[in-house]
Amino acid sequence: MKIVKLKIENLSAVSGLPINIKDGKLLLVKNVSFLPVQTRTLGEAKFFLKNPNAKTKAKNLYLMYRGVHFKKDALVFKKNNCSYDITAINSGLLDKEYIKTIGHHHPLKPKTNVSFPEIYEVIHGQALFLFQEIFSKSKSKRVFLIKVGQGEKIIVPPGFGHVSINTTNKLLVLANIQATGFKSDYKLFKKHRGAAYYITNNRQLITNNKKIKENIRINQLNPHKSASFLLKKNPNYKNKFSLKIVKPKKIFKTPLYQAFIKNPKKFDFLNNPEKHKSFLALKNLFKF
Ligand SMILES: [Fe+2]
Repeated sequence: MKIVKLKIENLSAVSGLPINIKDGKLLLVKNVSFLPVQTRTLGEAKFFLKNPNAKTKAKNLYLMYRGVHFKKDALVFKKNNCSYDITAINSGLLDKEYIKTIGHHHPLKPKTNVSFPEIYEVIHGQALFLFQEIFSKSKSKRVFLIKVGQGEKIIVPPGFGHVSINTTNKLLVLANIQATGFKSDYKLFKKHRGAAYYITNNRQLITNNKKIKENIRINQLNPHKSASFLLKKNPNYKNKFSLKIVKPKKIFKTPLYQAFIKNPKKFDFLNNPEKHKSFLALKNLFKF
């Protein structure tokens, strides 16, 4: 009988938390607490897909671990009105679209004209983030695509909705910190069946790409040298979009979790974005 050894990957050095991946699944150990795990099924996600009839064998597209912390750190998060969450996104395709989070935007902070930002860190795999301008009266809204590797951080700026896409063949694990006490808004992306662009793996179109004007090839973001993927414009939007591929600027080196516990005041921008406008300026967050 052949013994198959299951590979265990330890993510503690990257995440600052005792997290392992075993057999493609996330394991959090006992001295870490979190809320009951939430799942995103295909049935819930289909309203946000290019092809709502897409099929997959995976029971869940992704798992959401909310309010993750060492028990000793509970008060730090409570006092600073923040939550550290982990999302584990499976790899795979839904028809030709890569598995993604359904996407949402955050509301405006009451009595301000600034919406709540969020900070993400990739703790396993590689993410492709799509940030889409929501709160702007301009006819052409901006969309940013950002490839973020393991250990890198990215801030979702105020005014933007966001989708996280797994274009790789590995489990994508993201950590994020956001202010507590606001509700994410899923309506706009649901109404339009997703964000402004779908990230697809359409090899047939690639070999034939001169004919396809509405598609944009994005080889420079390609995580696999052997494969390509395409951006397909979502036809359900009436307004125009301007697309830019940007890179994340280095924010800090230490794991997000440790940085927050060490100096939670540094994360005041999450609760009071109106006081941190220059820090949250696009040119400060992205390399264009
Ligand atoms: Fe968010």
